[in-house]
Order: sequence, then structure tokens, then C-alpha cells
Amino acid sequence: MTSVLVTGSADGIGRETARSLIRMGHRVVVHARSFDRAAEVRNAIPDAAEVVVGDLASLEETRDLAAAAGRHGPYDAVIHNAGAGGAPHRAVTADGIELIFQVNVLAPYLLTALMERPARLVYLTSGLEANGVVDLGDLQHERSRWDGEQAYSDSKLCDVLLAFAVARRWPEVRSNAVDPGWIRTRMGGPGAPGTLPQGADTPVWLASGDDPAAAVSGRYFKERRTLRSNPAAYDENLQEGLLRALATLSGVTLPL
Ligand SMILES: NC(=O)c1ccc[n+]([C@@H]2O[C@H](COP(=O)([O-])OP(=O)(O)OC[C@H]3O[C@@H](n4cnc5c(N)ncnc54)[C@H](OP(=O)(O)O)[C@@H]3O)[C@@H](O)[C@H]2O)c1
Repeated sequence: MTSVLVTGSADGIGRETARSLIRMGHRVVVHARSFDRAAEVRNAIPDAAEVVVGDLASLEETRDLAAAAGRHGPYDAVIHNAGAGGAPHRAVTADGIELIFQVNVLAPYLLTALMERPARLVYLTSGLEANGVVDLGDLQHERSRWDGEQAYSDSKLCDVLLAFAVARRWPEVRSNAVDPGWIRTRMGGPGAPGTLPQGADTPVWLASGDDPAAAVSGRYFKERRTLRSNPAAYDENLQEGLLRALATLSGVTLPL
């Protein structure tokens, strides 16, 4: 039995991932943004081992979440699934950080840095990472004109950079990025062609399977196949620059 933490498991691909892992007999700790959402998750996933709570748009709540999740660990795998989609207007959190960047990039970084390292890490990205640009001088789109889809694409490229940076820094950990495909969820919309089981399949396979094809690190997957990511994701200087920026914003350095 594998022990897995899935972030953003109140809905969509994360909820399906948690359910699928539980059906396979694994121990799953699920995560919700608030106590109200946690009550809904308990009903939706009654066999979850534990429910942990924390709004990833808050640095304080994310730090507390890392501690709470740690009390229910250790984990064989952590799936960083929670994500915020593109929005028409630039929003800033109570920490003064652009919302999409904080939820999609800074929060998974902080959880990764603060929690005991698991054997496997899975970061949900998106095919839109191909359109992403990582400008270390403007990670939060303070200088550029706001474009919600671009901000989302940029954040998803950052997720690939994060997965690859962790893979390089922590060679004993399998750290990979997954594009789940265009899936019918609140974020994907009703017109998306993919089903929830299709979206959850590769994260589940990477987190719990013993297929040798999944026993790799620093890769970008879609439908269980390795694909080439945006070329920028392989730039080690950019990876290190992103880690430095995330350490500065969060006050937490990725342990060696
Ligand atoms: N669906 C697609 O077509 C698609 C395509 C490519 C990549 N992805 C990626 O797949 C992942 C899951 O997406 P999805 O389609 O399942 O989206 P979704 O249905 O909108 O679910 C997103 C999950 O993240 C949680 N979340 C969002 N902001 C949060 C915050 N501030 N604090 C805590 N939790 C938060 C949500 O909680 P609430 O329910 O409480 O809001 C929800 O559980 C995301 O990383 C997304 O970028 C999705």
C-alpha cells in the first residue's frame, strides 16, 4: 500500500485521483482549501485517511498545511494537483503576491520545501506550458499587460521547471510533471473532450505504479508517455533562478 497526499482534492482531477488511488487500496490524505470544503470532501471521499486544510493563496495557511500534512505522513508520493485557472483581471493575495503565481507555483514549492521528501513527486502542469514564458524579472506580471491565459501558461511552465529542478537537486526522489490533457472539470469546462479518469490516469500511475516506465525523474508526461516540454524548462540556470525567486518570496530555501 502506498501513502499519497493529493492537493486540491475537493474537485476535478484531484478528487478523481484520490478516489482512484483509494479504489486501488492505497492510503490517501486529501486536501481542501477551507473547513467548509473539507466537510464536502469528507462526504465525497469517505474513505480518505485524513483531510487537511489550507488555502494555497496564503503563505501562512500553506505553511500550516505543510505541518498538518506532515503529521499524517510520511508519504510515498505527493501529487501537487491544486491549481487556479486564468482570470480576466490580475488579483493579488493578502501576501501581496499575484494569485495564479502564488497558488500554482509558490504554494507547491513551499509544500515541497517544508515537507519531508517523499519517494515520488508529481506536479500537474498543462499543455499550455508550451506557450509559457518565464521572465525572472516579472514573474508576477507587474510590468507586462495582464493576460490571464498567458499568466496561467507561464505558471504551468514554472511547474515544469520546478519538477525538473527538484529532480536535479534531489536525485533520490522521482520528480515529474504531468499534463493531464484537456479534461471536463470546472477548469477544463463542459466542452473538454477528456474524462476525469483519463485526467487522473497518469498522476495515479506515476504516484503508485511499479511500471519501470514510471521509475524515472525529471520528465514531462502525458498519457503515460514522455514528451518534450517547452525548451525553457530544461534550462538549469532558469530552474535555479526560479528556485531563488521562490525562496525569496516564501522565505524558505529548498533543502539540499
Ligand atoms: N481540466 C483541464 O483541462 C486541465 C488541463 C491541464 C492542466 N490541468 C491542471 O490540472 C489540475 C487540476 O485541475 P482541474 O481541472 O481538476 O481544476 P478544478 O476542477 O478547478 O479543481 C482545482 C482544485 O484545486 C483547488 N484549488 C484551487 N485554488 C486553491 C487554493 N487557493 N487553495 C486550495 N485549493 C485550491 C480547488 O479547490 P476548490 O474546489 O475549493 O476551488 C480544486 O480542488 C490543475 O493544476 C490544472 O492546472 C487541468
